[in-house]
Amino acid sequence: VALGLALQKARTLAPLLPPGAALLQHIAQDLSPPEGCAELLARALKAEPSALVRDGGVIAEGFDAELDELRAIGENCDAFLLELEVRERERTGIANLRVQFNRVHGFYIEVTQSALSKVPDDYRRRQTLKNAERFITPELKAFEDKALSAQDRALAREKWLYDQLLDALQPHVQPLTGVAFAIASLDALCALAERAHTLNWNAPEFVAHPCIEIVQGRHPVVEARLAEKSAGSFIANDTRLSPQQRMQVITGPNMGGKSTYMRQIAIIVLLASMGSYVPAAECRLGPIDAIHTRIGAADDLANAQSTFMLEMTEAAQILHSATAQSLVLMDEIGRGTSTFDGLALAAGIAAYLHDRSRAFTLFATHYFELTEFPADHRQAVNMHVSATEAGRDIVFLHEMEAGPASRSYGIQVARLAGMPAAVVNHAQKALGALEAQQNESRAQVDLFAPPPQEEAAAPSAVESALAALDPDAMSPREALDALYALQKLRRREQQQP
Ligand SMILES: Nc1ncnc2c1ncn2[C@@H]1O[C@H](COP(=O)(O)OP(=O)(O)OP(=O)(O)O)[C@@H](O)[C@H]1O
Ligand SMILES: [Mg+2]
Repeated sequence: VALGLALQKARTLAPLLPPGAALLQHIAQDLSPPEGCAELLARALKAEPSALVRDGGVIAEGFDAELDELRAIGENCDAFLLELEVRERERTGIANLRVQFNRVHGFYIEVTQSALSKVPDDYRRRQTLKNAERFITPELKAFEDKALSAQDRALAREKWLYDQLLDALQPHVQPLTGVAFAIASLDALCALAERAHTLNWNAPEFVAHPCIEIVQGRHPVVEARLAEKSAGSFIANDTRLSPQQRMQVITGPNMGGKSTYMRQIAIIVLLASMGSYVPAAECRLGPIDAIHTRIGAADDLANAQSTFMLEMTEAAQILHSATAQSLVLMDEIGRGTSTFDGLALAAGIAAYLHDRSRAFTLFATHYFELTEFPADHRQAVNMHVSATEAGRDIVFLHEMEAGPASRSYGIQVARLAGMPAAVVNHAQKALGALEAQQNESRAQVDLFAPPPQEEAAAPSAVESALAALDPDAMSPREALDALYALQKLRRREQQQP
């Protein structure tokens, strides 16, 4: 029924599409439903069919004469019983004679004890009760057979008709799928258009040279939540990435807006790539082949993936697949292990992305050591989210600015989160001690130095022998012999490593 109604409406959609846009013309062509399908469905099905065909009540009246007749028998049952009752009362002169039905005994004519003498010869006894006898007549028996089987036959007939209907639609599956696809496309486009209009989004521009340039970009979800709660307005930020400046090392306080900023860029690139307007005043994009993200902490215990293992697996995957045309988001990589391990890994990963993948990279971190990275990596820059201290409190400005941050304000944020005062005080003291200790023993470590070249191991005997072979110059027999010889050599090697 839904299909039939949708097909009827699909016809009215096509003339509404504005001419001109090639995509819409393409959709309009697919919108015309195959001849006769909508009519067939409308004719064959009840407007509100039951949920299951086996319950009946699916095929419409007037679609099939045989089904109509079978149904009529069931529906006319009451009328027939009443009519028979009147007739039999007249014939027998028994005023309280009743014609009835129950599930166990079927149809019967009931006569009370006092009137039994008037019962005619053609009545056959069916059941004896305390005060009455129940009878059946040949006419009633014939009706009973017909009525009981009519219902079963009607259900079977409906099932058969329904299968016929499906068979009749089968050849149209492909054009019907086309109609569904066209409507779905229009639905998606309308949703995007409505959002763009309502939320003040703008058309992105695509250029051939590699770049991501965003003026006054916003995170659509965070922005909507802020508006909903009247919790202040969203602070828009610009982004400028190019081959000369393709990595941003983003630092700043917890709650400052690092993750929001990175993800808004990914969302804008994604929206633009799927053909939508974007939440930004302006947006210019070069070719982007993929968006890779490593965000948050999760684990997959059932599949042998601890939190840190999962983080590293995802990061490794990104390093293996990101290209110079990819956008990579690394949100605080390395936090799930000891500080030094994490810092060292983060530095290595940043260097790999900068030197090898050459991807557009947004790299948020609380390792302030990494703010030294841009000093000797020409295509990386430091960015930070601004915050100001007002007494003991911290005010987040959520504005991206050039340059590094120097503090995370983690303890202040913990206090804002409702951490017990005892914990905050304890942490403050511990922090002071840690900072003093670090200042004393800060050794100069070059975090970003490339690893020394691994010494190439000398080739094994098998490898040397293998390299010396010339397969083109060998007969099959010689090749086989060589194979045996290699195997022997390998075995000897294993015995005396
Ligand atoms: N540009 C912005 N305008 C307004 N509010 C913002 C903006 N950016 C972030 N916020 C608010 O600040 C909250 C925290 O932002 P976000 O998670 O991005 O901070 P963060 O710097 O990544 O913090 P952490 O270091 O703890 O991960 C957001 O949930 C949002 O409510
Ligand atoms: Mg964050």
